[in-house]
Amino acid sequence: MSRDAVFSLSARKGLMAFLVAAFAVQCFLVYTDPTGREMPPLSEAALRGREVWLGRNCQACHQFYGFGGFLGPDLTNASGRLTRARLNEVLTVGSRQMPPYHLSADEITGIETYLREIDATGIGQARAPRPDPAAFAAVVRVAMAGGEMPDEAARGAGRFLSGPCMACHAPLSPRRIGSYLAPDLSRSASALADEEIFEVLTNGRPALGMPPSGLSHDQQREVLAFLRWQNEHRGRLLEASLTDQPTGLPWWEFR
Ligand code: HEC
Ligand code: HEC
Repeated sequence: MSRDAVFSLSARKGLMAFLVAAFAVQCFLVYTDPTGREMPPLSEAALRGREVWLGRNCQACHQFYGFGGFLGPDLTNASGRLTRARLNEVLTVGSRQMPPYHLSADEITGIETYLREIDATGIGQARAPRPDPAAFAAVVRVAMAGGEMPDEAARGAGRFLSGPCMACHAPLSPRRIGSYLAPDLSRSASALADEEIFEVLTNGRPALGMPPSGLSHDQQREVLAFLRWQNEHRGRLLEASLTDQPTGLPWWEFR
């Protein structure tokens, strides 16, 4: 055997040993991952809820941790947004494609408790990163100070950042507020005619969760100028406002 062949054989053995060791380390990390270990056993009430859940095959339309049917929403973390009144309604007479189950008050309490205890076990679906409002405001302030923004738009930006708008409208993404959806306003300047925007700002859409803004016509024009500016610089604003936000998952899991 030549010297080269001996060398390459031991190099290959070394590589093999390295891969086996890497595999062993990976197995160790995955199998000793404590995620989910600390999950306490379900309470009596939650077990009754689980019986209803399994008996009625709710999973046919709903998911936990992203697994299940897809006609209805993922319920892993639904507990926080569901009121007892909403549960009473949904679990007796149904809601849209959700059929009526006429569950008893005791069964509803079971489902309520089951959903609360499932919620406590973790995050159902990895979430896409959302633009960070503070980072967004910082980029806008830099553009205002640097004279990059027309004066009228800069006055509108000042109004927008310091007014109540951002309590409902998240920057560059829609946000759910109770049963209302506050839209991403960075697209509104191209989606709506100017007159429609003035109309919304003047009268609001009270039935849909948007209050009248109380702004004068000139102030409305400034806000509109800022919405146009956002629309034009949307890509750059989005890039600068997406910060790495923890998903609560270890680094080797899907994000
Ligand atoms: C045939 C499909 C289907 C089945 C089976 C089903 N659901 Fe639903 N469920 C839906 C749909 C669709 C919605 C959304 C209704 C809406 O938007 O108003 C929903 C909504 C809900 C909601 C409200 C969620 C929210 O965020 O407001 C709860 C809670 C719920 N279902 C629980 C259950 C339970 C518990 C069962 C079993 C007893 C069940 N569902 C069985 C389709 C289903
Ligand atoms: C209490 C929450 C809330 C506040 C505060 C609020 N909005 Fe809204 N806004 C909404 C909701 C919800 C909608 C969606 C209404 C609908 O579905 O048509 C909306 C819609 C809009 C629209 C129409 C967007 C579109 O594309 O249809 C504009 C423009 C708008 N808001 C601007 C503003 C401005 C500017 C401010 C601050 C002066 C503001 N909003 C404050 C909740 C709010």
